[in-house]
Amino acid sequence: MPQLGKFFMLLKSQPNYVSGQVLAKNAGISRSAVWKQIKALRRYGYTIESRHGLGYKLVGQTDLPLPWELARVLRTSIVGKNIVFHETTNSTQNLALLIANNPDSNGTTVIAEEQNGGRGRQKRTWLSPKGGIWLSVILKPSIPTSKITLLSFAAALATCDAIKAIGLDARLKWPNDVMISGRKVAGILLDISAESDQVNYAVIGIGINANLDSAAISTRLDGAKITSISDELGHNVSRLNLTKFLLEYLEHYYFGLEQFNTSAIVQKWKARSDMLGRMVTVTQYNKTIQGIAADVNDDGSLLIKTKDGNANIVTGDITVRY
Ligand code: BTN
Repeated sequence: MPQLGKFFMLLKSQPNYVSGQVLAKNAGISRSAVWKQIKALRRYGYTIESRHGLGYKLVGQTDLPLPWELARVLRTSIVGKNIVFHETTNSTQNLALLIANNPDSNGTTVIAEEQNGGRGRQKRTWLSPKGGIWLSVILKPSIPTSKITLLSFAAALATCDAIKAIGLDARLKWPNDVMISGRKVAGILLDISAESDQVNYAVIGIGINANLDSAAISTRLDGAKITSISDELGHNVSRLNLTKFLLEYLEHYYFGLEQFNTSAIVQKWKARSDMLGRMVTVTQYNKTIQGIAADVNDDGSLLIKTKDGNANIVTGDITVRY
């Protein structure tokens, strides 16, 4: 992958057609390796023309959040400074967990074009075909373990703001689903390693149904109605742009969580939710609870007013009656 990035820069720097021979010489690779790199770049969505006797010319960009493309546009100081990109992987979350113990991994972001073992909340399968944004960010926050759930609130806020930045009215549903018109467009998964009250690391997994036909992922079994960015907009979106916004907002809220009163994150979360004050059904492993979603507490739990009194919910799936 680093080699492909260098090869791409070399090709990009040529205003005209450049022969395979020159590319091979400048990149220090064989002619057949040049052909493999060209094929890989085309697979990643670049348009590269080839003309007999003239060679290759880059004529069209990709929308994928590839490491060298993100490096060009991303304005962050930690998040996404190191990008690991895979065309296909089992789960970016699993991969990130493997590297999170590395002392230099704060902010490292693992991105895949496709996952064949994507994980959702509550051990569900998260279908992740090509077209989506599937990524996991390693963070090492200096906040107490008791407040770690707020990191997934920060990630949900960042995802919501990034989707708003491309012109869609995204809202939050507890605990951290991102919705458009009552349909789920993105989800957040948090895995942590902690000892007593100290967090060693957290891996925040974010899945956005970007350029996907929602019918292709309709068998995700979390009971939520599903939508995608492209279904809502009627056209595809640049996954590079959306990922840039997402990582920048994530860093913003991550710093906010470390520096400010953590309840500020909850206040912001509430401002972007349209479920408070509505009738909801909470489905847990062995029971359901019905009532009015009254508030989100500073620790991130959901306060429900039921006919029998108040209930503080820390886990479960919520169905909102709009
Ligand atoms: C949910 O159930 O709402 C959470 C879905 C989280 C999916 C993302 S996609 C990137 C990362 N890798 C995974 O395997 N899961 C998360």
